[in-house]
Amino acid sequence: MNRLTNKHIILGVSGSISAYKAPDIVRRLQDLGAQVKVILTEGGAKFITELSLQSISKNKVHRNLWDEDAKLGMGHIELAKWADAILIAPASANTVANITLGKADDLLSNVILANDTPLLIAPAMNLKMYQSHALQDNLSTLVSRRIIIIKPESGKQACGDIGIGRLAEPSSIAKQVASQFISTKLTGKKVLITLGATIEAIDPVRFISNHSSGKMGMALVNTCLEMGASVTCIYGNITTTLNAKSNNISIISAQQMYTKVMDSITGQDIFIACAAVSDFSVKNSNNQKIKKDGQNLTLELIPNKDILADVCKLKEKPICMGFAAETQNILKNAQKKLKNKGCDVIILNDVSKADFGFNMDENEVVFLSRNLNKKIAKNSKQKVAKKILEIFIKECL
Ligand code: CTP
Repeated sequence: MNRLTNKHIILGVSGSISAYKAPDIVRRLQDLGAQVKVILTEGGAKFITELSLQSISKNKVHRNLWDEDAKLGMGHIELAKWADAILIAPASANTVANITLGKADDLLSNVILANDTPLLIAPAMNLKMYQSHALQDNLSTLVSRRIIIIKPESGKQACGDIGIGRLAEPSSIAKQVASQFISTKLTGKKVLITLGATIEAIDPVRFISNHSSGKMGMALVNTCLEMGASVTCIYGNITTTLNAKSNNISIISAQQMYTKVMDSITGQDIFIACAAVSDFSVKNSNNQKIKKDGQNLTLELIPNKDILADVCKLKEKPICMGFAAETQNILKNAQKKLKNKGCDVIILNDVSKADFGFNMDENEVVFLSRNLNKKIAKNSKQKVAKKILEIFIKECL
């Protein structure tokens, strides 16, 4: 599987004669599995047309900071959230200077400021400009900010001079972008993850739910994405931030989560049931607010369908990982769930502890499969998620 499978790359094209190589760079990135969106600066548009880049990238070319199509009119934030990496090739001397200064006067510079993923810059210009103190000082500053500079090559230049300043070869640029990512056995896999708490209505203002924050599930979503998977996230009530790179589907009740999971399960390679699903819903929940009248109130609860167990029963079942939230006889109960639900892995979560687990930033779990019983020591949920997936890859893929 290619390292850029499922990866979103923004290619910034600025004003240099070598902008004519941008379509080839788009192709090389696509050959490695990436989806590419292009931002064309005003200078870049003097050397290459929007139409060529649009045809090759198969995406709209972005040029305007004030994009009226963008949600809430914030195209630069949407693009920055979409990107797994930003590449500027060719980067003109002016673009390099703007980035060094942190200017925000066009779409590309705004996206760069809003970006928290790897940024790679491939300068291309006349050799004297490239060797100038100003340009070299700017590049040193960018390197000190962990920005990756893809060095230009030497050779005959468009202006007739011979020396350093020619844009690096498109295939070498694409390889350097790919080297920012790891390739794992999850790369290219489709993963469906449920997370957060479901909410069962009693009446329009009251409900039954639980303490799940969705943090463990989101740590798994983030790690699966980092490992190259394409992720669908079906989430209930959460107190954590979603990842814009997964396909996020919001639900409220257990029944809604059941329906969305069954609608999305075909073609998934892996199902991770991390949601704290309510086992019961209220029979005949009230359409109007229930009024108190001094008497006891009895609610009749009816069982919800078990999503994980039903996915495990599917003819073409994905590899299934469930969670067991336990407070007593924890190992025995978790082993029972592994067997009874028919899943491949159960992650045992002791939810009786005050310092980790439910609603906390840290967790300590046990990875259980038919052949393995492995404790994962207390750590941040992000680190625990990574460990879970590393063991999962070894055991199940
Ligand atoms: N689960 C599910 N659908 C349900 C209930 C649970 O998919 N209706 C999944 C959870 O996402 C989790 C696993 O089943 O992966 C175990 O959930 P847990 O709450 O620990 O156990 P339950 O099956 O609900 O059983 P009990 O409450 O009796 O412990």
